[in-house]
Amino acid sequence: MFNQMKIAFYVTGGIASYKSVSLMRELIKAGAEVKVAMTPSATKFVSPLTFQVLSKQTVHVDTFSENDPKFVQHIHFADWADFSIVAPATANTLAKLANGIADNFVTSALLATTTPVFIVPAMNEHMYEHPATQTNIQILKDRGAYIMEPATGFLAEGYSGRGRFPDSTIILDEIEGLIINQSDSLPLQGKQILVTAGGTKERIDPVRYISNDSSGRMGHAIAEAAMKKGAEVILITASELAVHSQIKQIKVESAQEMYEAVDANFENINVLIMAAAVSDYTPVKQENHKMKKKDELSIELKKTKDILKEMGQKKAHQLLVGFAAETDNIEEYALKKLKEKNVDFIVANDVSRRDRGFNSNDNEVIIYSKQDDPVLISLSDKSRIAERIIELIIEQLG
Ligand SMILES: Cc1cc2nc3c(=O)[nH]c(=O)nc-3n(C[C@H](O)[C@H](O)[C@H](O)COP(=O)(O)O)c2cc1C
Repeated sequence: MFNQMKIAFYVTGGIASYKSVSLMRELIKAGAEVKVAMTPSATKFVSPLTFQVLSKQTVHVDTFSENDPKFVQHIHFADWADFSIVAPATANTLAKLANGIADNFVTSALLATTTPVFIVPAMNEHMYEHPATQTNIQILKDRGAYIMEPATGFLAEGYSGRGRFPDSTIILDEIEGLIINQSDSLPLQGKQILVTAGGTKERIDPVRYISNDSSGRMGHAIAEAAMKKGAEVILITASELAVHSQIKQIKVESAQEMYEAVDANFENINVLIMAAAVSDYTPVKQENHKMKKKDELSIELKKTKDILKEMGQKKAHQLLVGFAAETDNIEEYALKKLKEKNVDFIVANDVSRRDRGFNSNDNEVIIYSKQDDPVLISLSDKSRIAERIIELIIEQLG
């Protein structure tokens, strides 16, 4: 998403400016080209040298340091960028931006920029809630700037309150969301995609359950890949993995809960991708109290609802993608599933191997469909596999 994006990264003089060093590094790691400008106050908290070494670019602080006669530096800096981030933004700089004041390199370049501007305010709770700051934030929002909500937690002042600089991953998620919302050329824009993930848990008693080895990584990666292509994604997950803030998450535990959540959302969606490892059986009886130890124990099981099959029967306009996690006769089972469950694609994988599939970062899959030859996606990272699956879905949706 950030690949080759040119980001003008503005740092102002708040205590959180040290955290913006890791935010900048994350952006660079994600493929962005980042150039930094700092206010003179910001340099009292973090040295420009830190940003210079890590960004491998000159850091701008002094508006009048005009070393290259070909350019006016703050205008050149503003014009170079595709996207601007102010992190952290002090109450002082917010006030200046709201009023068009251009008295240092940062405020001058931000007055000259035509890019989207993403602002991360961070300050003491009372400064943040002061009517002056709130009015300035509203003015900037009305002019089209994107202002992130600060986090609540332990502040530098030694007490808890609203005003903290959020974690880098949360900021990155929100920037990605903004980029997606502002783009009008993503192939899945306007499409709703429902993804299931993780291994369901079938309770025996309050502390014991039957489950499987699925980590949820494949389903979560698919949800993220679809979101990055512009889809509105609902992820129904039985996994504890973190979920991107731009994805609507429905947490479930059992196969029955997963069925109900899928069923409730099925009608309006364009694509259902069932990457969850849904338990085939569940205890007939669920004990309310922890069961006592016995010499022998048998648990009677009954079949759970076959979600894919049920949705295959209900299917109208929806595209259905199922997974077949097998240890043998993979092709035969995948083709059978494709036919019997009225599914458009079956993503088949071999879960007998430790280097791929369940609980691994990697996978190798073969995608079967009724109309086309099978497509092999050879062993690679699950996020790469997810991207390829989403590409095939995009082709199918036309
Ligand atoms: C130790 C210390 C911590 C500060 N932390 C913040 C802060 O987190 N947020 C903020 O808005 N101002 C903070 N300030 C006040 C700003 O540094 C001050 O308003 C400054 O003029 C901001 O300049 P700038 O907006 O040009 O960077 C802090 C000041 C000091 C001395």
